[in-house]
Parts: sequence; C-alpha cells; structure tokens
Amino acid sequence: MSAAAIGKDLLGLAHLSAEQITLILDTAVPFKEISERAIKKVPTLRGMTIVNLFFEASTRTRISFEFAEKRLSADTVNVAVSGSSVSKGETLVDTARNLEAMKIDMVVIRHPSSGAARFLADRIQSNVINAGDGTHEHPTQGLLDLLTLRERFGSLQGVRVCLCGDVLHSRVARSNMWGLQKLGAEVAVCGPRSLLPNAIDELGVQVFSRIEEAIEWAQALNILRLQLERMQAGYIPSLREYNRVFGVTRERLERAPRDIVIMHPGPMNRGVEIDSDVADGPHSVILEQVTNGVAVRMAVLYLLAGGRPELAEAAKGQ
Ligand code: CP
Repeated sequence: MSAAAIGKDLLGLAHLSAEQITLILDTAVPFKEISERAIKKVPTLRGMTIVNLFFEASTRTRISFEFAEKRLSADTVNVAVSGSSVSKGETLVDTARNLEAMKIDMVVIRHPSSGAARFLADRIQSNVINAGDGTHEHPTQGLLDLLTLRERFGSLQGVRVCLCGDVLHSRVARSNMWGLQKLGAEVAVCGPRSLLPNAIDELGVQVFSRIEEAIEWAQALNILRLQLERMQAGYIPSLREYNRVFGVTRERLERAPRDIVIMHPGPMNRGVEIDSDVADGPHSVILEQVTNGVAVRMAVLYLLAGGRPELAEAAKGQ
C-alpha cells in the first residue's frame, strides 16, 4: 500500500477499506511503545503545525490528540469556541482559512453538526481529521476500539460485539459498526427502540431489545453513554428506569455463559448505562481504550502526513 494510503483526510470509517483500517491499526502498534518510554518523543512530525479546533466539549479526544501530536514533535495550537472569534459569529470556513493563512498543515475538528468535518475538508488544503461530528462518525474512537478488541481476541474475524444503549445519538456506534463489519466481526445493537435509528434493520446488524439477550450472545459489549444533551424528546421514562431495564450490572454479567470484555468510549454515566463495579471490574478494558487512543491518533497523523508503516517501526529506534 502506498504512503498516501488513507487519503488526504480522515473523516470516517464508512469509506475506508479493510486494508486501510488494518494499515492504521498495524501502524499504531509500534507507536504504542513510544508512550511507554521515559522520554515519550520522536522527531517524526518535526516542523509540522497542527490545529485542534474543538467546538464541543472533550476530555479524552482533545488531550489524546495533543499528546499524539507532541509525542511526534509537531507544533500544536488548541482553539476552543469560547475565546475565539467563532463566539463573535465567524464562520467555520473563515476560521479555518485564517488558520491556513498562518501556514498550518492539519486540522483536527470536533463539531456538533454532522458533516462539519467533510464540509471543512472540501474547502481547505490542510489534512482534516474528524474528532467527532454530531451524530455522524468518530473515526479515531472507532479505530481505538478496534485496536483494543484486536489485542484481546487476536483478530476481529467472527468476534461478536454488541453496541449497547443510545445508538441513535452515537457517532461512536456508527464508526464501530463500519469498522467492525469491515474487519469481519459480527455486530449487534441493544437498546430501547426509541434510542435506535429508524434504519437500524438496514445496517446489517442484529438487534436485541433485551440486555439479557445481548449478554448471552456477546463476547464484548461496547456500552454507549446516554447523550442527555442531544435528547430533545422524552426518549426514556427516567434514568433509574433505564438502569433497571438496560443497565449493564454485575448481577447481569454473572449470569453470562462466558467472560465478556467490557468497553465504554467515555464519558460514563455511572449507575445509568454501566454500574461502577462493571466499569472498574476485571473484564473492563476502558482504560486500555484510552491508552490505545494515543497510539491510534499518532498512526493517523503519521499516515496522513505521508508516512510509511516501516518508518513507524523505525521511529521506535529514534
Ligand atoms: N470518547 C470521547 O470522545 O470522549 P471525549 O468526549 O471526552 O473526547
């Protein structure tokens, strides 16, 4: 596969091939080792300037991108809506074009509107990385979930993964569905019908309406946050009721026919979609997901910058 193998931008997993996704995961593996070192820095992206443009709150993604950029020696600037001229009404494109006039190389964007990353990528020359756009996609989260599962199971082929909870509002769910299916996993969703997309039956996934059935079937559960800030209608009777019917609890997992890998993209609503003794329990890989996020983002930055996988391996020796 050529150096520009994943294209100019990373906007989602829907349009990537299994080979491209595998290339990113394989490239992340040697980068993971760099974060284990006392001095966590290689000169791979020295001289590049990357802007992190976050129009929505974020802890994991923003900090993880910043670590990834700094560990590759890129120069980074963080722009948040408050404190920028966006708060005075400047458009997304004008903001980005002004940044480009200062000779930047890449933009990492999180935005509440689905399609915002594509809109920007079509209008600027810099590489654009989607760090989550509305309810559309969150490709680097999908990739770090895939890497975490691949580490656990060796291969994704035939692994049964259920996405549980608020699938309707979840960009993480969409990126997971595309990525998992492309790498050969069996995918299911489980949640109240009001929190599943209308077209769920066309997405090639199994649908469970009871969490007990999902637990019986799955080898891994990726438990999604109830996105209360995106819920304009009464999708569920109450948080307590949701936990009672759909919550992933220790008692429910103890009745499973096998140990189940527990994932959550964060931030978690403890005691709602996931109980604390599950989140912090022996089968939870939630913090491994966070660790893998830095390596996956290093891989994406590196590949978009035109890097070759063998140079990622060589970076270990720098
Ligand atoms: N998983 C995730 O996107 O978390 P943040 O919203 O904290 O970035």
